[in-house]
Order: sequence, then structure tokens, then C-alpha cells
Amino acid sequence: MEIKALGVIGAGQMGSGIAQVAAGSGLIVTMNDIDKGFVDRGFATIEKNLSRMVKKEKLSAEEKSTIISRIKGSTDISDMGEVDFVVEAATENEELKLHLFQQLDGVCKQGVILSSNTSSISITRIAGATKRPEKVIGMHFMNPVPVMKLVEIIKGLATSDETNKVTHGLAVKLNKVPVEANDFPGFISNRVLMPMINEAIYALFEGVGTVKAIDDVMTLGMNHPMGPLALADLIGLDTCLAILEVLYKGLGDSKYRPCPLLKKYVDAGWLGRKAGKGFYDYSG
Ligand code: CAA
Repeated sequence: MEIKALGVIGAGQMGSGIAQVAAGSGLIVTMNDIDKGFVDRGFATIEKNLSRMVKKEKLSAEEKSTIISRIKGSTDISDMGEVDFVVEAATENEELKLHLFQQLDGVCKQGVILSSNTSSISITRIAGATKRPEKVIGMHFMNPVPVMKLVEIIKGLATSDETNKVTHGLAVKLNKVPVEANDFPGFISNRVLMPMINEAIYALFEGVGTVKAIDDVMTLGMNHPMGPLALADLIGLDTCLAILEVLYKGLGDSKYRPCPLLKKYVDAGWLGRKAGKGFYDYSG
């Protein structure tokens, strides 16, 4: 089945990025969130990103308008009854995702693939909330979505080869590079990335170095585009904590225990860029 209309659940950082990239590839997108305010914020982010591209002459003003006109805002999940493929990018909360997939299974056309952008929740478990587990798959985009080439594709236990093939095809259509991972906590990306971020936070906690020193070591010494603490701020400290908890519980190994300092920052609401404060101050 040719995918022409894409449904995106969640208009936040990831959802709006996915909607932008899909509309930029010619798909008609329905971007859904629970509240009109969230949908509007998603549109504002897309508008800002595309305007930057117009300014850099990577896109014409006309192309920008065409891309935006391909995106329809929605606060009613039954609008997903119109689409050919769904990417769910709601908050990283298992209960919420299970409920959403149950609803999507009810409203989406038969045969429609339901994918999740989850960064760590079991695809097999999400699939279990539906009556179409063979049509459920992980489609894990990286932040910032318009820039990062990778889409990690995660097959649940019941995911069919056909679903896998169609999802790979969609990732390529979105100008991304699909890489396959099996359904274990954290998949590949966060199994490798989060222990590094957590260890950087432990280094700060134990006074091994300052925020700047830790990040400088990784940018100047290892050529990472940004240091682990700056990256944690970009991802969101609440998301980092949630992923580390999934790794810690799911794999049962103490090496994944979240640093107490990370918990403290999350308790304080210092969640990184989106909160204006994390390991760095973004208020300016
Ligand atoms: N949205 C859209 N475009 C953006 C952007 C955003 N939020 N941020 C930067 N860009 C674009 C810029 O417009 C610029 O585009 P051009 O090359 O066309 O001019 C390009 O990205 C480079 O940006 P800058 O020059 O401003 O800054 P930079 O060179 O420092 O790059 C960065 C910024 C791309 C974020 C880079 O620092 C980087 O790659 N950082 C690492 C990001 C990363 O590791 N992401 C994965 C996180 S893990 C994850 O997402 C999964 C998970 O489950 C937690």
C-alpha cells in the first residue's frame, strides 16, 4: 500500500519534527495532540525551522508555504481514521502509550501500520495492547529530527516482515537511514548513549570536573558535536531519567542506576532546554 497520508500523534519536540520532515517529503500529515495549545506550539516550531531554511536560501518561501499547507492540526484521535500510517510520538509514558495504541487500533483503518517513536518502551508490550500486533513497530527518530539521519527501526516479537519492509521504505522516503534493532530495553541507541550521559552526570556529582570540563573533554577530545551534559539538556532530563529507569529495571544491572543528581534536577523541574534550565542556563 502506498503511504500518502501520515498521522503523527504528539506535536512536541519529536512529533513536530516528524511532521515537518514528512510534509517536506510530500506526505499529507495530520498532527494530533490532546490540546490545541500543543498543536499550535508544534506549528510554531515548524514555522521557525522552515523560516531558518528560507533565510539560508535552502528553501523558497513558496516551498515553505506548501510544506505547511500539507500539515493539518488535530485534537481528535478519530482523525487517524483517515491516514495510511501512524507515528506515535507522545510523552514517554508506558501507560499513556498503551492507552493510545488501544485507541489507535480502534480508529485506524484495517492494515494501517502503527509505529511508535518510543525511545525505550517495549514494542512487543505496546503491540500487545492492540489486535494487530503484526502491524506494530518501533520507528525511533533522533532529536533534532530534521537534522539527524538515523531512524532506528525496532521489530517487536510479532511484527511481520511486511510491516518491517514498509516501515524501512517510509524511513527512506523521509530521507532517513533506517537501522534495525531488536526489542530489548533501550534498543541500540539508548543502550549505548544513556550510560555515557549517566556517567557524565556521576562525574559531575562526584566532583571529577565541572559541567564545562566534562563537555569540553568529549567535544574537543572525542569530536562529539556536543558534550554529554549539553546533549542531556537537549534530550530533556526527564526523558533521560525515564530511559535510564527502563534500562535499570529491564536489564536488572546496577550499571544503569540513574545518578541521584539527575533525579534531583528532574525533581527541581530543571529539565534542560525546554525548561530554560538544566546543566546549562537557557534563560537568555
Ligand atoms: N531543528 C532543525 N534544525 C536544526 C535544529 C533544530 N532543533 N538545530 C540545529 N539545526 C540545524 C541548523 O539549522 C543547521 O542547519 P544547516 O547545516 O542547514 O545550516 C544545522 O542543524 C547545524 O546547526 P548549528 O550550526 O546551529 O549547530 P551545530 O553545528 O552545533 O549542530 C546539532 C547542532 C545538529 C544539534 C549538533 O550539535 C548535534 O548533532 N548534536 C548531537 C545531537 C544528537 O546526538 N542527537 C541525538 C540525541 S538522542 C535522541 O534523540 C534519541 C533518544 O531516544 C534520546
